[in-house]
Amino acid sequence: MISGARPLAGTVVVAGAKNAVTKQMVATLLSDEPSVLENVPRTSEVAATLGMLASLGTQYDWLSRNTLLLHTPQLSASGIGLEHQRLNRIGLLALAPLVHRAGEAWVPVPGGCAIGGRQIDFHLAVLGQMGARVGIGGDGFWARGRLHGTRVVLPYPSVGATENALLAAVLAPGCTEIAGAAVEPEIRDTIALLNRMGARIEVLRQRRIVVEGVGRLRGARHRVMADRSEAASLAMAAVATDGRVNLLGAEPRSLGPFLRVFRALGGGWRVGRRGMVFFRDDVLRPVSVATGPYPHFSTDWLPPLVTLLTQARGVSQVHETVFEDRLAYAVRLGAAGARLSVSDRCLVGGCCRFAGGGHFHSCTIEPSRLHGARLVAPDLRGGFAMILAGLMAEGTTEVGCVERVERGYAELSEKLLELGAHLWVRLGRSRMTA
Ligand code: EPU
Repeated sequence: MISGARPLAGTVVVAGAKNAVTKQMVATLLSDEPSVLENVPRTSEVAATLGMLASLGTQYDWLSRNTLLLHTPQLSASGIGLEHQRLNRIGLLALAPLVHRAGEAWVPVPGGCAIGGRQIDFHLAVLGQMGARVGIGGDGFWARGRLHGTRVVLPYPSVGATENALLAAVLAPGCTEIAGAAVEPEIRDTIALLNRMGARIEVLRQRRIVVEGVGRLRGARHRVMADRSEAASLAMAAVATDGRVNLLGAEPRSLGPFLRVFRALGGGWRVGRRGMVFFRDDVLRPVSVATGPYPHFSTDWLPPLVTLLTQARGVSQVHETVFEDRLAYAVRLGAAGARLSVSDRCLVGGCCRFAGGGHFHSCTIEPSRLHGARLVAPDLRGGFAMILAGLMAEGTTEVGCVERVERGYAELSEKLLELGAHLWVRLGRSRMTA
């Protein structure tokens, strides 16, 4: 429950990156030595990943609130149980480490936000090209055999498939070249951990990653990078409420594509020694934005941007090119007074893979006055877009299914309260349906 129309002001610490930490937790499976991850966010996604790893024999210990020791001296299983089915997308990444250590692997069907088809054909193709036999069976996927280095070409720069290829390549004899790789900052952060463990990975220009396989990996200590999507979300909340938010740990280097759009719409920032301060620098202007793989504007930043753009002095257009069904939140924001229309056309930046497919993946946003409403979070980022609507709107907003948001934003309610938001949690079953 949010009582809105109050500027957010104050200082909070940005958590460790959701889309790096869980991959790094799985990467520690590649060694029988202990590793330590610092800056680990306490989210339900991390808890779910710990449960999955523990079922494979990983011993873990929280050395402090955000420091996690992970150690898998021996595997206790070569497959992840069905109870971990559809929780998140992380199980898929265990395929290669399990094949390396046990010669075989089985993982259940992955989950994650319902924002598109989220196929896994690239993942299986990569492991197949690297020498594993792969297949589908029993509500999951298996892989068997010995992996070796080779050249793999990804038809689209998939984050998960690139990570899968990396975890397969680091211990595979010979050289692996991943062409068409995703190069998101979170992937570079995971590469930094792997190299600290003794891997030999080099990121070259034009989406090429070269990996020289090594015989074994050791344990390592690594500080997870700050979450750039949390930083961007809170920066947009600062501007949307005409506030001023100091984000400790925010890193300008990883936020480049965000800052370009943020400046164009009238946002301002200062870079300090320990983080970045975000505020409104000018009247809010409309923008046209297409999402894309890094170094383009991230798909994960679009939902709060759409909410924010309802306050711009003119009509904005956005085009989601990464996930074909990610705009469910946009339609739902209409209940809070947002004047939005979704379209199956490619409205900004030319045609994308979804052209002609009948997917509503573009949106036109008109200046609107938001008011309190009852909303349901459809997914993680879409849910944040709704919380943002509540923070901006006159009156009281109820957002249901917030556990979908808490999956990826560590201690979000606490942070918003710290920044002066008026919100409270109503326990019990929401009367709304998702
Ligand atoms: N794709 C395929 N085949 C595959 C793999 C991907 O067709 O085998 C397609 C997908 O269907 C999608 C596109 O490629 O259309 C991109 O998918 P990608 O594999 O890059 O996404 P992901 O690894 O499943 C991660 C993040 C997402 C983030 C995307 C894009 C995690 C756990 N998830 O997903 O994060 O949006 O990369 O950057 O790292 C979020 O944080 O809210 C979130 C959804």
